[in-house]
Amino acid sequence: MSDAVRAAHDLSALVAPPKGAKERVSRMVESLRGSEILRISGEIRALVASGQPVCDLTVGDFSPRHFPIPAALRDGIQAALARGETNYPPAAGLGELREAVRLFYARELGLEYPVSSILITGGSRPGIYGAYRTLVDPGDRVVYPVPSWNNDHYVHLTGGADVAVRCGPDERFLPRPDALRPLLAGARLLSLNSPLNPTGTALSAEALEAICDLVLAENARRSTRGERPLYLLYDQVYWMLCFGGTTH
Ligand SMILES: Cc1ncc(COP(=O)(O)O)c(C=O)c1O
Repeated sequence: MSDAVRAAHDLSALVAPPKGAKERVSRMVESLRGSEILRISGEIRALVASGQPVCDLTVGDFSPRHFPIPAALRDGIQAALARGETNYPPAAGLGELREAVRLFYARELGLEYPVSSILITGGSRPGIYGAYRTLVDPGDRVVYPVPSWNNDHYVHLTGGADVAVRCGPDERFLPRPDALRPLLAGARLLSLNSPLNPTGTALSAEALEAICDLVLAENARRSTRGERPLYLLYDQVYWMLCFGGTTH
């Protein structure tokens, strides 16, 4: 490789800070914490790789030997690839898929949403992050119960003000409406997850209804004052995985 070609391939100048500049990434990234569960999961992988017999219950990414992909899904993906379906989908997702989601929600949950309100994302993380970015300005208060799955990280990414509500074993690690009531005034977002990662416990219909009533009452007060509303983000990603007496 000639010196000129080598120089053309050397991108270090693009990432190196200008001379004299303090070397740092954004303030948000400087104070970013890594995911605890991914750290533990990495440790487990290393144990497994070293030949230890481990039943890995860390992240929901199990061996296909135990949880094989459904045959219909596998065959459908293979057939679509064989047909050459490798292009970008429309930004909001394939029309047929969005319509299928609409029908699924109507059939399984009795919820009628227009197809225009349904957005397909690659996993639910982009949806959650997008919801945070759409709603939360720096300094906005975000209320969420703890234990929780990653709300602390999403609050950090959006520069929101963290209002974590600790929930103990007596309440099955789920928020009581009474604990949330005093925190909703002035908050921008209430983020709930049920069934809950990491405990698997689920909000009862009555508790969820009482919490929704609090949100409606708060927004009724705000609308008379012309204030921005409080939003509820309801992550029910595990609703089809309820066991025993747990219902969703
Ligand atoms: C409660 C909860 N919501 C959302 C997600 C993200 O799911 P996805 O893998 O589809 O991005 C997870 C993944 O662990 C989760 O536990």
